[in-house]
Amino acid sequence: MDFIDLKSQYRRIKPSVDSRIARVLEHGQYVMGPEVTELESALARYCGTTHCVTVASGTDALLIALLALGVRPGDEVITAPFTFFATAEMVALIGARPVFVDVDPRTYNLEPAMLESAITSRTRAIMPVSLYGQCADFDAIDAVARRHGLPVVEDAAQSFGATYKGRRSNALSLIGATSFFPSKPLGCYGDGGALFTNDDGLAQLMREIRVHGQDRRYHHPRLGLTGRLDSIQAAVLLAKLEIFDAEVAARGRVASRYASLITDAFGEHGQVRPPYVEAFNTSVYAQYTIEVNDRQAVETRMRAAGIPTAVHYPTPLHLQPAFEYLGLPAGRYPVSEAAAERVISLPFHPYLTEEQQVKVIDALAAAVAG
Ligand SMILES: Cc1ncc(COP(=O)(O)O)c(C=O)c1O
Repeated sequence: MDFIDLKSQYRRIKPSVDSRIARVLEHGQYVMGPEVTELESALARYCGTTHCVTVASGTDALLIALLALGVRPGDEVITAPFTFFATAEMVALIGARPVFVDVDPRTYNLEPAMLESAITSRTRAIMPVSLYGQCADFDAIDAVARRHGLPVVEDAAQSFGATYKGRRSNALSLIGATSFFPSKPLGCYGDGGALFTNDDGLAQLMREIRVHGQDRRYHHPRLGLTGRLDSIQAAVLLAKLEIFDAEVAARGRVASRYASLITDAFGEHGQVRPPYVEAFNTSVYAQYTIEVNDRQAVETRMRAAGIPTAVHYPTPLHLQPAFEYLGLPAGRYPVSEAAAERVISLPFHPYLTEEQQVKVIDALAAAVAG
């Protein structure tokens, strides 16, 4: 069994992917070709924003967003400690200081009630993460941000396609930044990402930063990077976008099936529970993540039963060696630390069959029972 099955998906979209890639090979505009422009219009339409700026990765999306907002060395950017490394890494790479706010124990997203106390005179931006495919509580976060005149950037690397109160992820804040890494709900065949905004000035700035801060050929008012998405990756994404809504629906069906199998196996209030999704959210389940006691034993027993699992993420960012200089001790963010010890992600993709899911939950029940 695969943890994520991209081969079944390729079989489904092969004619469209192959012909779109062949077209790029024939026209030869490998960088900033017509596919990139077509994709940016399609993605902006999909998310409901005025602008989409495609970029080379989700990491570049975060970096470009922060640079466009003018985040500088010495500034502070507030984010969650329970996320992939890149979120705080890009803040620190600029020379700014990541400031962490612990997460909600059910959704694993930044706890808005604790946000205000983290704001100082040096805070320049708030960057919540929409983890595992479910959006953070943007209305509550915005209310605090607006009181302090701070911009909000959604790290939507895992939530492209999710909705919050009927609005799409990436369109919930000043800038949305997503990833098209192959394993993401919408992924390409390499690295890719995109930025979303309704702000014309910011969109222009992000386009310039994407190409070395250039506003016209060989004229550079500011610094930037080589942050473009390739035409071939854009072609792949255009093909995948054709079936994306159907795949999101299939992800929802697979998740519901897991939820009832888990409830059947462990009971309504058993020690393993399905992921919690807020009533106002729809999740795209970038990961299907549950909590268990004695995770290492469960992982080992599942592996022995032929079921691949993964841990997203075993170490909260304040305890990563690279962030030791922040001087944040263990115990500082208890919810993130407890989650990091207990979470485990099950095989998940839109093509998982009921039979495979039964096998996963049978193995899980046996692994938990010891
Ligand atoms: C929450 C989060 N932020 C940022 C990134 C970085 O995206 P990429 O791998 O495309 O650079 C990821 C990717 O795993 C992510 O999960």
